[in-house]
Amino acid sequence: MNIVVTGGSGKVGRATIRELLAHGHQVLNLDRAPLAERLCPFTQVDLTDFGEVMGALSGIDQQPTGTVEAVVHLAAIPGPSQRPDHVTFAENTVSTYNIFEACRRLGIHNIVSASSETLLGYPFAEPPRSVPVDESVRESRVSYALSKLLGEVMAEEYAREHPAMKFICLRFSNVLDDADYAQAQGWQDDPQIRRWNLWSYIDVRDAAQAVRLGLESDLTGMHAFIIANADTVMHRPSRELMAEVFPDVPFTADIPGTQSLFTIQKARTMLGFNPKHGWRQRSSGRD
Ligand SMILES: NC(=O)c1ccc[n+]([C@@H]2O[C@H](COP(=O)([O-])OP(=O)(O)OC[C@H]3O[C@@H](n4cnc5c(N)ncnc54)[C@H](O)[C@@H]3O)[C@@H](O)[C@H]2O)c1
Repeated sequence: MNIVVTGGSGKVGRATIRELLAHGHQVLNLDRAPLAERLCPFTQVDLTDFGEVMGALSGIDQQPTGTVEAVVHLAAIPGPSQRPDHVTFAENTVSTYNIFEACRRLGIHNIVSASSETLLGYPFAEPPRSVPVDESVRESRVSYALSKLLGEVMAEEYAREHPAMKFICLRFSNVLDDADYAQAQGWQDDPQIRRWNLWSYIDVRDAAQAVRLGLESDLTGMHAFIIANADTVMHRPSRELMAEVFPDVPFTADIPGTQSLFTIQKARTMLGFNPKHGWRQRSSGRD
């Protein structure tokens, strides 16, 4: 497939480009900032400008990717408190609208878009209603989460109104790579440190795997998936962490050992998602 990746110069974007190239796809990276390492063709685009988005998706002189068949929309301010709230809200919602609307006008029907675990209750100042948390939870308590919620709502509306369009919204957990894993030891003694996402994470390579599976799937309509690793970032069992931090929260399914409190069953079943990397393998030299 000829695939445009927005935000391809970022953390998830770089891993996504590598994953797509390794599986025989052609990729064009649209980002405000170039990649230090030229993995694929790049054009500088500000996604908050609709004209730039239309121009870039409809064809760029000398870029070899041909007609765009699919878009992976990753570009965003990627978390709360990185910019003032209204800036995060405005940049993320306008960029997402611009991408979705340009895709509609140009007949690009295959779209994978980055959503976020922050819709699941971040920062868990209040306990979750029950665990494991699944995709039925959609709550926004910070402007970043609200921008991602509106991204999902826009995807739903476009899919309803334009049935040929497919939207896969990936609710990534906190994306970690090898450099981040070095911090994991410092999280072990105090369960409060990572309560904000119930000790969840996603390895950056498995986030990229989920993007590729979303693009390659023959689903129709809009679907949101939690994309997390199968385990937590903690050595202590998940039940023990919950008993200490959120003692009254009911369990609706068994969560053995260090299994994640965010369920990824939907992504496993519908996308064939199977996380292969993680901090435990890295710590023991198996990855
Ligand atoms: N990193 C995480 O833990 C995490 C967790 C959940 C969801 N997400 C989502 O995943 C996506 C990727 O996150 P990341 O960690 O790779 O972020 P990142 O900051 O590393 O990369 C984002 C990229 O988008 C580009 N960008 C931002 N605004 C742009 C604009 N208006 N026009 C063009 N380019 C723009 C930036 O230059 C950057 O290269 C984001 O949508 C983020 O919200 C990330």
